[in-house]
Amino acid sequence: MKFLVTGGAGFIGSAFVRLLLQDPDGSRAVLNLDKLTYAGNLENLASIADDARYRFVHGDICDAALVNSLVAEEKPEVIVNFAAESHVDRSILSPAPVFETNLRGTFTLLEAARTHQTPRYVQISTDEVYGSIDPPHEADENFPLRASSPYSASKAGADLLTLSYFVTYKMPVTVTRASNNYGPYQFPEKLIPLMISNALEDKPLPIYGDGQQVRDWLYVDDHARAILAVIEHGRAGEIYNIGGSRALPNLDVVREILAAVGKPESLMQTVKDRPGHDRRYALSSEKLMRETGWQARVPFEEGLRATVEWYRSNAAWTARIKSGEYQKYYQSNYGGRAV
Ligand code: NAD
Ligand code: DAU
Repeated sequence: MKFLVTGGAGFIGSAFVRLLLQDPDGSRAVLNLDKLTYAGNLENLASIADDARYRFVHGDICDAALVNSLVAEEKPEVIVNFAAESHVDRSILSPAPVFETNLRGTFTLLEAARTHQTPRYVQISTDEVYGSIDPPHEADENFPLRASSPYSASKAGADLLTLSYFVTYKMPVTVTRASNNYGPYQFPEKLIPLMISNALEDKPLPIYGDGQQVRDWLYVDDHARAILAVIEHGRAGEIYNIGGSRALPNLDVVREILAAVGKPESLMQTVKDRPGHDRRYALSSEKLMRETGWQARVPFEEGLRATVEWYRSNAAWTARIKSGEYQKYYQSNYGGRAV
């Protein structure tokens, strides 16, 4: 089976590519189309870069001519669209790239899939499209959309566009909506890798507001396996939630990180809250489990320990990221935010 994976040099896309190429009978081939934005990193794919079944193309999913020629020539059986501007804080600071990639890019891929009658298209989306959810409720796939940030609005728009291709053109599309991922190779702008890497360097850990916001944590390899389960067993025209069933307040997560790294809680620093900050995400994955048999395998404590160990042993990976554009981003997001 031939896969076109977009955004395969990012955090989750690279975990999915690595999983695909673990294929025991060697029958999968992967074409990875990635623009290599600040978040794209070919080091994430070093372990499979020389695999004869793998090909990398450096390009933009908004480039209709490129996308069309790749789909025409390679005739993938499945397109999986991970490519996105994925960080909420960056989407608040600078929404234009979010609109381009997350909406126009999705449209460009869908049009190529329509033209060339790609047998399967999977849109990788997020639980953020449901907005903040009051306890004790969990969002199922029929929950109303209530996006709070330019990022989540762009993902909700892309979901609706994708699903419209099923209704209008009878295209075999599927949308997956996952909760917060964590694990190795995550860019240190998101909560868990940022806190681990700052703690390892004895730098302050910026806590937005009261730190009581709740997120449902999913280990990245469990997410990758869920996407494969949806491709193998899911139905076209459907949405599948993918949650980790481990909802925790941010402060608990950060305390656990500090304990694992062996650093004092005095490193935590309260900073001004994120504008439009969603208070609580909570997801039901009942449909996914019932229809595909998927279950999360990695308990949070085990996944977090493995993640801390990965960042400890891969300090050079983080240092390379932190030496570039990252400093400018860090200053614009966190500068003058202390309370
Ligand atoms: P990431 O930021 O780590 O990686 C994004 C990748 O997309 C990078 O390799 C980047 O170079 C590439 N990219 C960006 N714009 C592109 C373009 N125009 N053309 C081609 N490539 C482009 O993101 P991630 O955390 O791995 O998220 C992957 C997907 O999963 C996204 O669609 C995101 O919305 C979704 N998602 C993420 C999470 C999470 O917790 N990180 C949870 C649920 C859903
Ligand atoms: O829920 C799925 C989403 O999870 C994905 O769609 C997004 O791509 C991904 O970035 C993530 O979004 P969040 O906004 O939930 O993740 P983030 O890691 O940015 O923040 C998690 C929580 O931690 C949130 O309540 C904000 C808080 N936070 C975050 C950072 C970066 C802090 O308190 N301090 C910080 O410095």
